[in-house]
Amino acid sequence: MTTLTQTDIGPEYLDREEEDLLAGIAARKQELADRLLVLCHHYQQEAVYRFADMTGDSLKLARHAAATRNRAWIVFCGVHFMAEAADILTTDDQIVMLPDLRAGCPMADMATSDEVGWAWQELAAAGIDRLLPVTYVNSSALIKAFVGEHGGSVCTSSNAERVLTWGLERSDRVFFFPDEHLGRNSAHALGIADEQVAVWQRGEVLGGNTAEQLRKTKVLLWDGYCTVHMQFTAGHVAHWRQTDPEVKIIVHPECRHEVVRAADFYGSTEGIIKRVTESPAGSKWAIGTEINLVNRLALQHPNKEIHSLSPFQCLCSTMYRIKPGYLLWVLDNLAAGRIVNRITVEPRTAQLARIALDRMLAI
Ligand code: 13P
Ligand code: SF4
Repeated sequence: MTTLTQTDIGPEYLDREEEDLLAGIAARKQELADRLLVLCHHYQQEAVYRFADMTGDSLKLARHAAATRNRAWIVFCGVHFMAEAADILTTDDQIVMLPDLRAGCPMADMATSDEVGWAWQELAAAGIDRLLPVTYVNSSALIKAFVGEHGGSVCTSSNAERVLTWGLERSDRVFFFPDEHLGRNSAHALGIADEQVAVWQRGEVLGGNTAEQLRKTKVLLWDGYCTVHMQFTAGHVAHWRQTDPEVKIIVHPECRHEVVRAADFYGSTEGIIKRVTESPAGSKWAIGTEINLVNRLALQHPNKEIHSLSPFQCLCSTMYRIKPGYLLWVLDNLAAGRIVNRITVEPRTAQLARIALDRMLAI
C-alpha cells in the first residue's frame, strides 16, 4: 500500500469556511502565477477543479507535465501515481507536489514490484517466454521501471488498445497490469479470442493457470481492479434500457467487460467528456464513472439529461482527499518559501520508468 504520512494541517485550514479558503487560493494563485502550474484530474471536486491551469485525463496531464518547462512548481490535484509520473517527465529543477499525501490509488497498490517480479520469474521458469510487460499508468514508479527495463510500455485508458497492439507486434504475449478489466476490454476490442486471455491470480501457482493454458495466452491480465468502477453493473445498464430507451450509456473501460459490452460507448474521462459535450441538445446520458465528473457534466449541460449509471454515489475517496484546505496549505507554504509534500522518484527508478512512459508517448 502507498502509506505516506500527511502532516496535520491544523484548524487554520481544516475548520475555515470554504468561501474563505477559496478566496485564499485565488489570491495565492495570482501571486505565484508565473512559477506555478496547477494540474487537476477530472475526478477532482469542484472547489479544487476551478483552480486548474490544465484539466485532463491521465494521458493529457502526463503530456502537459512533460511539455511545460517554464513552471518551477507543479501542484498535482490527483492521485499519487499521477504526481510520480509528472515528476518523472519534468526536469530536475521542477518540483511536483501532491496536496494530500494520502491520495493514493487502491488499484495501483494491487500490484507491487515484488509481486510482479516474482510472477515474471515464475513464468520464465515455466518456459513462458516472448512475453512483454505493459502497465496501466495507474501503477507505482517501481512498476513502470520494471516495465521500462523489460522492453515494455505504459498505457492509459485512452491508448490501451494501441499499446496492446504495439506489444503484440513485438512479442507473442503481453503481461498487462494492474487492471484486469481495462486489459480485458482492450483485448476484446482488438478481437482477441476469450481463450487467449487469462488472469494471473495473485497467490496461486502459475497465477491459477496451467503452463499449457499460458502458452496459448496472448494477453495475461493481473487481477487488479478499481473499487469505484467495480460498482457499476450490467443490471444498471439493463435498468436504464428499460427506464428510457433514449438514454445512451457511456462507461469508463475500468468497468467489468459485461458492463462495457452492454454500454453504447466507452472511453477515458476525456473521451467521455468529449462525447457528451458534442452530443446534441436534448441528449440523454447515463454515465458509468466517478461521481464528481458526472455531476460536473450535468451542471455544464443543463440542456441535456445526465445521470450516473448507478443509483449510488460512486466516489473516488482518495481523489476526494484533495480538499481546498490542503491546496491552500501547499500554496501558503510556497509563498513563504517552503516546499511541502514534494513527490520525488529515486533517479534510477525514474530513468527506467521514463523509458516506459516515453514509449507510450511515442506510440
Ligand atoms: P483517465 O485516464 O481516463 O482519466 O482515468 C484515470 C483513472 O484513474 C480512472 O479511474
Ligand atoms: Fe484509482 Fe479507481 Fe480512484 Fe481511478 S477511480 S484513482 S483507478 S481508485
